[in-house]
Amino acid sequence: MKKKALALLLGICMITMTACGSTSSQTSGEASAPAAQDGAAEEGGADDVSGAEEDQAPAAGSAVAGVVWYNFADTFISNARQTLINIGAADGTITITDADSTNDVSTQTSNMNNFFTQGVDYLVLNNINTGAISEICDQIQAEGCYGIFANTDTPSDEDFAKNDKLYSVSSVATQSGTIMGEALAQYWQEHPEADRNGNGKLDYVMLLGIQGHYDTTVRSQYSVQALEDAGIEVNNIGGEIICDYSRATAQEKVAALLANYSDEIDAVIACNDDMALGAIEALKAGGFFSGDDTYLPVCGVDATVNGCQAIKDGTMLVTALNNPVMLAKSIYKVMYLTNSGQEVTTESMGLEGVSVEGHRVWLDYSPVTKDNVDQATYDINDTAF
Ligand code: GAL
Repeated sequence: MKKKALALLLGICMITMTACGSTSSQTSGEASAPAAQDGAAEEGGADDVSGAEEDQAPAAGSAVAGVVWYNFADTFISNARQTLINIGAADGTITITDADSTNDVSTQTSNMNNFFTQGVDYLVLNNINTGAISEICDQIQAEGCYGIFANTDTPSDEDFAKNDKLYSVSSVATQSGTIMGEALAQYWQEHPEADRNGNGKLDYVMLLGIQGHYDTTVRSQYSVQALEDAGIEVNNIGGEIICDYSRATAQEKVAALLANYSDEIDAVIACNDDMALGAIEALKAGGFFSGDDTYLPVCGVDATVNGCQAIKDGTMLVTALNNPVMLAKSIYKVMYLTNSGQEVTTESMGLEGVSVEGHRVWLDYSPVTKDNVDQATYDINDTAF
């Protein structure tokens, strides 16, 4: 860590008489304790963020990471965040401090700038300023710290070519789209009654996350592509319905859609489980899932605790396991390896379903249906990396 910034950080810690770890709440645009959402993130909290002892300089060989998450309240992010905090606390090599962008680009920018001012060694960015990736890469390079784009659009080849200290860690979103599309295609082919208005087309509603976000763009494209590849004629109802990965927004928008299209809709494709769950609530209120001939296939992504419960309940057809624990482990491992001068390769990462291409680290998804839902588990207290 840079000396001047370290002195500044220690000064702040001494004045406030709190552990450096609680910079989680000091640096946030609007900080909040980790949301114990979805029954997953129940332990730990903002005070657990640091692996370092109170008022002590980090040990030799250690480093500080500033992690900017797009939204602490997001279920998947809350689980990844808590796991990263837990790993940092258990290992102690990399001190994790984090900040909440509250789904707001200008808050993200000020969170980043705060971390730069503190002189962090690693800036981990769950970026939502998707139109400014190259500019952000240039800024990271000018600051001289490592930059890790996490769970978001990856920087371009040109960006990577300019800076050896740039990495990205993300799931292969194409897989999650294909998983939803293939499961829905199979259902459609096995259930002729699924064509509710008998028009020969699969009339689907598409629920999108944050506008322009890599995961949602790719998931929506590849799910529909898988249906078309299976020879199914499709029809989109309602256009691009942006719900920001939010359950409440999805519930509201699907409820509004049902007012006009209740008899037309054959399926809902949601680009995450939270939105799928919101859709299921709206569908239940609209008379679906209430007995014979009221089933509607709903697809999601993430395999959250509540998503898996919906699979067990028979309200969600399929989800794709997007493992937040693996995301956190991968982010930490990239920092751990580079901090000790080691190369980041598939072998050195050594994590199941994680592969490395240049400075891009990719995580695999896997399909989750009622047949294997009991195996779709992860433990945010698993700190082995
Ligand atoms: C996705 C995840 C969504 C949401 C999003 C935020 O990978 O499936 O539920 O968390 O990331 O960037």
